[in-house]
Amino acid sequence: MSVIQQILNHRSIRKYKPDPIPEDLLHEILQAGIRTSSSGNMQTYSIIVTRDQHLREKLLKPHMGQKMVVDAPVFLTFCADFNRMRRWLKINDAADNFDNFFSFLIGSIDAILVSQTVALAAESHGLGLCFLGSTLANADAIGKILGLPKNVVPVAGFSLGYPDEQPDLRDRLPFSGLVHWETYSNYSDLEIQDIYSERDNKGWQRYMKSKWLREQDGVKGIENLAQLYTEVKYTRSSHQDYSRKLLTYLENQEFMINEGD
Ligand SMILES: Cc1cc2nc3c(=O)[nH]c(=O)nc-3n(C[C@H](O)[C@H](O)[C@H](O)COP(=O)(O)O)c2cc1C
Repeated sequence: MSVIQQILNHRSIRKYKPDPIPEDLLHEILQAGIRTSSSGNMQTYSIIVTRDQHLREKLLKPHMGQKMVVDAPVFLTFCADFNRMRRWLKINDAADNFDNFFSFLIGSIDAILVSQTVALAAESHGLGLCFLGSTLANADAIGKILGLPKNVVPVAGFSLGYPDEQPDLRDRLPFSGLVHWETYSNYSDLEIQDIYSERDNKGWQRYMKSKWLREQDGVKGIENLAQLYTEVKYTRSSHQDYSRKLLTYLENQEFMINEGD
């Protein structure tokens, strides 16, 4: 399969065979990840490979009970990591300019790019994966379980293993709604409706069949997919709470030191 064909064939995998991933294959796909471009080639990320069943069971709660964490043989956590770099600066009597939010974003971008390279390398070998947003939402609890020191923050993670399902390809918004040529061309309301029309129908039908949705609070009175996204899936209070929690964790991890501290 060509690289493009493989990319176009991507689907998230949530059911896994119990088969372990051979050690040399795991090394190969992680090595491929390390070839990813990196800001200033500082490589301000770390990859935590969790195979131990007991540790994955501990990770289950902060990953909001998503069973892929324990069902897949491997869980990978990609962290923004300025610990290594800052230690190296200290040893060499160099200034440390990285105790700030901008540096967190640099490390995050590095980590997230690496995660996608590892994902593609893994899929090229027939492995399947599912990213879990809970990695960032509960970064503090996950960081504790994984023993992360100051200056290290989990930003992305996925379960990894041999697929035990072949789900349908999920839709994407149309190309014309996502790509702007030369400069940004803002949308009219009609264009927005057009861009989302297929998703409005298919997504709504999909959620209406979902057992998960019926178990959620706030479902009553929901009239369309947009409302479902913000009344049920991503509520204002949950996003505000996660934001506050993450900012506190970034402070604790010494990414938010103010001038004069
Ligand atoms: C950053 C990120 C976080 C995600 N978090 C979750 C998650 O917590 N649980 C889940 O089942 N899928 C999660 N996904 C998978 C998305 O739901 C999935 O990529 C999207 O629905 C498109 O489906 P596809 O990957 O099969 O094409 C996440 C994906 C990304 C990129």
